[in-house]
Amino acid sequence: MEETPLALYMSIGFDIITIFPGMVSAYIGESILKRAVQKGLLDVKVYNLRDHATDKHRTVDDYPYGGGSGMVMKIEPLYTAVQAIKADGLERLTVMLSPQGRRYDQAAAESLSQEKRRILFICGRYEGIDERVKESLVDDEVSIGDYVLTGGELGALVIIDSVARLIPGVLGDEESAKEESFTWGILDYPHYTRPPEFMGMRVPEVLLSGNHKDIADYRRKEALRRTLQKRPDLLGKAALSKRDYDILNELCSSKTGINDAEEEG
Ligand code: ADE
Repeated sequence: MEETPLALYMSIGFDIITIFPGMVSAYIGESILKRAVQKGLLDVKVYNLRDHATDKHRTVDDYPYGGGSGMVMKIEPLYTAVQAIKADGLERLTVMLSPQGRRYDQAAAESLSQEKRRILFICGRYEGIDERVKESLVDDEVSIGDYVLTGGELGALVIIDSVARLIPGVLGDEESAKEESFTWGILDYPHYTRPPEFMGMRVPEVLLSGNHKDIADYRRKEALRRTLQKRPDLLGKAALSKRDYDILNELCSSKTGINDAEEEG
């Protein structure tokens, strides 16, 4: 078998600055991401912000100017941490995790998976980060959803996980990342495995038929039905074909279309 030239392999690198390095390493060190690291498809380096504090207590936060509750992350340790990481001369995209950031979604994951630069995450803790960090060190501010976490670490992990699985070779079955939920802009179709019947619940007959065209049609219709039912807001942005619109029209006008797949037979 011919060897694939190295340049054809995609890989992606992340750097994370955090005060909880163990939290991040624990997740990266398990399962699929661990295997991706071992295969050389994913590189993750975790940096302890406290290593860049200058006092003996390794302080990284301080009281807010103007008063108020909570502590604010200081700029100096973050600044020196970023400079130390960038000393290797590699190109980087610096991303700060915060609830004020641009909302992360599958399109953002796909765009980051094409990134040639390493991605450097700054994980905030406490009540916030000194605003000057954003002005001087950050290219992009990202939120993973409209809720407030105790820090950016989970956000960084969510992004790493969702980007890594788009890198060819990270998932066992390469098709699965491309085919499934959200990559078409709509929800995933229902999945079944053996047994064909469990406590009276039967697997839809078409899936046992071996007819690939019928199976593909059934899956597309069910994916559209679920999206119409649960996330109609996605349909406005999804890439839909004329046939998809026909199916949606049919689902909307049929009595059982939105609520009950089984009744249609
Ligand atoms: N830090 C705290 N809340 C966050 C959120 N929703 N997204 C990213 N980082 C955060």
